[in-house]
Amino acid sequence: MTIEVVQGVMSEPVIRQATVADLPACAQIINDYIDSTDWLPRTKPRAEIAGLFTPELLDKRTMLVVEVDREVAAYASAADGFVYAIYIAPRHRNAGIGAKLLDELKSRYQQLELTVFELNDRARRFYDREGFSEIPERRDDNTEEGVPTLLMRWRRAA
Ligand SMILES: CC(C)(COP(=O)(O)OP(=O)(O)OC[C@H]1O[C@@H](n2cnc3c(N)ncnc32)[C@H](O)[C@@H]1OP(=O)(O)O)[C@@H](O)C(=O)NCCC(=O)NCCS
Repeated sequence: MTIEVVQGVMSEPVIRQATVADLPACAQIINDYIDSTDWLPRTKPRAEIAGLFTPELLDKRTMLVVEVDREVAAYASAADGFVYAIYIAPRHRNAGIGAKLLDELKSRYQQLELTVFELNDRARRFYDREGFSEIPERRDDNTEEGVPTLLMRWRRAA
């Protein structure tokens, strides 16, 4: 039997529930993101952020990961209709993974809310396109990072 290895073709993204083994990869994705921006100051060291990804988190929140080629390419975390995080590793962006994760969360809730940094143009565009609207009265100008956040909401159509 010949096994053909096709290089450069990635496997289809698969969404699944996160396990304890995925948590370091999730922490790395968000830590790398913070370090990659030129507008978001790092307020907590990498180790402190990694320390937030405890096994208990898996009980408290819906933690989803997207696996591509056996690697964690993205994760999302939500509870009670609030999306705490949605982060896609850089080389997996613009391939529909963010939309796929949101669709999975939308299927579980009637309404989703999240905060987004005002300076995060790309994410704001993305949420806008995915049906979220800004709630102006829930803007927060006093964040720990010194960058205002906006609250955005999606509601299932009646
Ligand atoms: C914002 C973010 C979550 C979006 O996720 P994503 O997987 O890149 O999103 P999608 O691929 O679904 O959509 C992004 C773009 O790719 C395009 N796209 C989607 N599928 C595509 C495909 N198969 N081929 C080409 N383009 C595609 C979409 O049209 C969209 O374009 P637009 O932004 O000009 O409208 C992601 O960029 C990210 O993780 N950013 C860094 C972290 C971050 O800011 N998180 C949010 C914190 S609030």
